[in-house]
Amino acid sequence: MQGASFIEKMKKTDRNIVVFYGSQTGTAEGFSNRLVKDARDYGMKGMVADPKEYDMSELCHLPEITNSLAVFCMATYGEGEPTDNAQDFYNWMQSTGNSLEGVHFAVFGLGNKTYEQFNTIGIYTDQRLAELGATRVFDLGIGDENNNMEEDFISWKQRFWPAVCEFFGVQATEEECSSRQYELVVHHNISMNEVYTGELDCLMSLQIQKLPFDANNPFLAPVIVNRKLNKGQSRHLMHLELDISGSNISYNAGDHVAVYPANDVSLVNRLGERLGVNLDTVITLKNLDVDSSKMYPFPCPTTYRTALTHYLDITSPPHSNVLVELAQYASDLKEQETIRKMDCSSAEGKALYHSWVLDAERDILTVLEDLPSLHPPMDYLCELLPRLQARYYSIASSAKVHPTSIHICAAVVEYTTKTGRVFKGVATNWLKNKVITDSCLRPSVPMYVRKSQFRLPFTASKPVVMIGPGTGIAPFMGFIQERAWLKEQGEEVGETILYFGCRHRNEDFLYQEELQEFEKAGVLTQLNVAFSRDQRHKVYVQHLLKKNKEYLWKLIHFSNVHIYVCGDAHNMARDVKATFHAIAEEVGELSHAEAVDYFKQLTISGHYSQDVWS
Ligand code: FAD
Ligand code: 2AM
Repeated sequence: MQGASFIEKMKKTDRNIVVFYGSQTGTAEGFSNRLVKDARDYGMKGMVADPKEYDMSELCHLPEITNSLAVFCMATYGEGEPTDNAQDFYNWMQSTGNSLEGVHFAVFGLGNKTYEQFNTIGIYTDQRLAELGATRVFDLGIGDENNNMEEDFISWKQRFWPAVCEFFGVQATEEECSSRQYELVVHHNISMNEVYTGELDCLMSLQIQKLPFDANNPFLAPVIVNRKLNKGQSRHLMHLELDISGSNISYNAGDHVAVYPANDVSLVNRLGERLGVNLDTVITLKNLDVDSSKMYPFPCPTTYRTALTHYLDITSPPHSNVLVELAQYASDLKEQETIRKMDCSSAEGKALYHSWVLDAERDILTVLEDLPSLHPPMDYLCELLPRLQARYYSIASSAKVHPTSIHICAAVVEYTTKTGRVFKGVATNWLKNKVITDSCLRPSVPMYVRKSQFRLPFTASKPVVMIGPGTGIAPFMGFIQERAWLKEQGEEVGETILYFGCRHRNEDFLYQEELQEFEKAGVLTQLNVAFSRDQRHKVYVQHLLKKNKEYLWKLIHFSNVHIYVCGDAHNMARDVKATFHAIAEEVGELSHAEAVDYFKQLTISGHYSQDVWS
């Protein structure tokens, strides 16, 4: 494995704990930072490390450092995959035969129970390190994003630290450690050419675009189409087309496009007003630990306005640890007490945090509005808030037909919370507002493509069944376009069957005309649509699957069909899978256990694929 030496760094900077993270959306990285912060309370010195940057085969040298410990905060992504930054480490664990005897470790896994492959990477890391001879200092922690990951993490680390202390024979220090990780520097005479304005890595990279484009250097794609797909005012489902000409970006049907959204200007302004801060102040937040590999929490120098607009997540409910850190800045003692109570380490605190923050969906601004005496320094708030994350969309086009554009099909998130406020999803509302006007200023979107495993069969003659209600239709627009193109090229194209679902035929039958044209042209051999609300009882895609059970079983059992499911991970994907199990039991005459195993094998062989999100 290539990469820097973390052992050398630990020795040089006198650290005994290293916390590696496999993080896709920043949560695992945030937890790792908190563990390293905690370590100081026990007289230990830790460092956070991205496994992508280090030579992980050096793990076997960890015992050279006294009382050393490697902690792994490992997220599972999508269908049981490691995060991008942990892929090489995962491959290494699979292939290495090196002994890790003498290495002390602990793992906290981050996952989402909505997905079948719940926490597989955390579980694998924990088992594999033990198999290689390393000593588990504390039991695997399991975090469930679908419930309350924060609570899972806090209750794990509450038991983790005493176990570490006992293992190494150390005690908590009485010393008060500062909770600040960064110091504020205000720049008074700085050229604006040196100030970050939303770039992720290189200064000016959004103004002067240079190939190659990737997650750190996104391409600013002009929006060339932005149209509403549904009728009626209560919802907004949209189709966007991003122009990628000249970017050298390639994609396959089934890939995901990641977009970097910006927060709503009015929310940012309200935060500035509430805390009485000039948002155009140019600042740097500099790590107090000069040996840290992460010098700044986000690109600096920058303005508060840019940080709150482009770099920080200001709309998710703040974590309980953030609230507890802020409590000291409430001048009203009653408010201070209420905030401190929300520490998730007690049952009462968990309940209060649940009802007041999570259930009521309060974001940082509503917290500040509802606790008027709370006045934290803006720079501390910027240190504590998590990073704003890119949002992924299943690409709704085929590069064979649209080599210079990437299509998105998305539902705008907007609803009223329990406190009566309107919550607007960050990316979907920002995309909705990318309105194309006659002016020469074209709206644009910083984006890159993330490759996926969701692929049409290599041989076009193989039959496919696609199940995608709602915006789950997205990747199938790409698949169908691709099959149409292959047919045009004279290739033999197998059965192409779609199951789409929506509320009403006359309201949200997305891409109705296009789909009916494909059906007429013989590309779509079956277009099955479930209208859930056009009659008294619900009709869902799985009800239509059940109706066609004999034919579907024939395709599955005798024709090597590829089945694809896309859309809601919470209920739809699970219900569809259960329907297939029922079909295998009824028509294939398998027992329930056999049916479950049958579809497991289909998943392993790539004949049953899901692209689902919650
Ligand atoms: P955010 O600001 O992220 O807010 C979403 C929050 O609102 C979440 O906490 C959610 O739980 C909550 N929420 C959402 N709706 C409601 C509601 N009605 N009531 C209560 N709470 C609600 N989305 C698509 O539309 N099309 C796609 O093709 C697509 N493909 C995806 C592919 C992948 C691999 C993944 C991971 C996700 C995909 N998504 C897709 C989801 C997409 O990435 C965003 O999560 C989604 O658009 C919302 O983003 P946002 O920034 O507008 O909302
Ligand atoms: P509903 O909203 O009327 O319940 C796209 O969102 C379509 O998926 C809608 O018609 C929606 O119906 C339907 N849907 C909701 N829950 C579902 C489930 N568990 N399985 C399949 N489709 C579902």
